[in-house]
Amino acid sequence: MTISKSALDTYKLLKATATVAEDSLEGRIQHYRAHLKSEEKELRTYTQKAAADLLGCNNRTLKRRHDQGDFSHLDIRRGANGHYAYTLSNIHDMAEILGINAQNRNENDKLQVIIVNSLKGGCGKTTSLVNIAAALATTNIKRYRIGIIDLDPQGSSSSFFPPTEPDPITVGDLMRDCIEFDEGETQADVVSGSFLPTHIPNIRVLPSGMDDFYFEHETATQLNEGRDYSENRHYHKLLEKVIKPVENEFDIILVDTAPSLNFMFYNALMASTAMLIPVHPEAVDFDANNKFLKRLAEIYHTVAALGHEGWDFMQFLVTNYVKGNHSQRDIVKDIRSAFGRQVMSYPINHSSAITASSSSFNTIFDQKTSDSLASRESLIKSQENIKDVVDELEMLIRSNWNSTQCQLETA
Ligand SMILES: Nc1ncnc2c1ncn2[C@@H]1O[C@H](COP(=O)(O)OP(=O)(O)OP(=O)(O)O)[C@@H](O)[C@H]1O
Ligand SMILES: [Mg+2]
Repeated sequence: MTISKSALDTYKLLKATATVAEDSLEGRIQHYRAHLKSEEKELRTYTQKAAADLLGCNNRTLKRRHDQGDFSHLDIRRGANGHYAYTLSNIHDMAEILGINAQNRNENDKLQVIIVNSLKGGCGKTTSLVNIAAALATTNIKRYRIGIIDLDPQGSSSSFFPPTEPDPITVGDLMRDCIEFDEGETQADVVSGSFLPTHIPNIRVLPSGMDDFYFEHETATQLNEGRDYSENRHYHKLLEKVIKPVENEFDIILVDTAPSLNFMFYNALMASTAMLIPVHPEAVDFDANNKFLKRLAEIYHTVAALGHEGWDFMQFLVTNYVKGNHSQRDIVKDIRSAFGRQVMSYPINHSSAITASSSSFNTIFDQKTSDSLASRESLIKSQENIKDVVDELEMLIRSNWNSTQCQLETA
């Protein structure tokens, strides 16, 4: 095969560009990311009043329990003002002491694997996912065990939950069998260790990496070689190599995806129990979404034929909605009249608090109102908005757990 001179020139240009990116820009990127080092990234702390609110008791009860020495073995620090500054881990430990049970699913309840996907780039998949995860983990005392799988090799959601290790195992490494096992180590051991703890105590993240792109190439090669499906099970890799081995460690797994109908996406579909489709209510996005929906049914058919058991729910989530914008309001009306109850009741509103926190890879629940770059009012409003969305999502999730149904019936 001969390469033309102009193609060779383009290739040289790309090589030179890559060198510039590596030599000069990498340092700058490290500079932007400096604050992402996990030892620096900490979740906000809570005042005694905020801790009592979260625990569902009053301030006086907490004070009394402190006086009795019930919490004296916990490492509860004090802030600059001398008052207690509780971490979320402190509050979880206090919940145990106060006899407030975690509301994890029981073994007969199905693990919820929710994929957040749309073919439209920039419609708010990552922003919605990370803020929903943070709200699920920090705004109640239920202590759900939450996993985030970053299936987008760009690693956007991993950046909000920076890995605690410099060179972490990625989801692609696990799907592509790139890991060398130590003696006696099982797939479950490796996968479990790869879901890294984050600055939020009950969220663990399985990051992505740029090499995860090779999964596409390798799968395409295997398909071209016409190998039998049972030999590679290339659409079952996320489910069988990543999720099944650790399914008992989580209640809810959220999967962030790239805006692409690639082999990773087929894997996400095969592993999913539910689907959340963010829709940004702008004409061009709406149009792209409709085209995506036509393809989705065809793709799902392939996955169904290979054994997928159907979704518990599929919901549209209106994102980045600018209140008062007439054309967006009309599009949302159209979406609601077309899809009815399949549209989440609350949109995620456009918010300067989300813009400000995202610019430093924070969710709106990471920081105290006083630390936020946005106004206190905007942060509180946005937190309340996401909380409304999450309340509905939680209801959808819990309606699939028999143990929760029993609680409702006996209440
Ligand atoms: N509710 C919101 N308020 C303010 N800004 C938002 C909101 N939702 C999303 N954005 C902004 O829109 C941009 C795109 O969002 P995001 O990265 O979440 O999209 P995405 O669908 O994950 O993109 P990609 O397809 O590239 O993965 C980001 O700059 C994000 O900060
Ligand atoms: Mg994204």
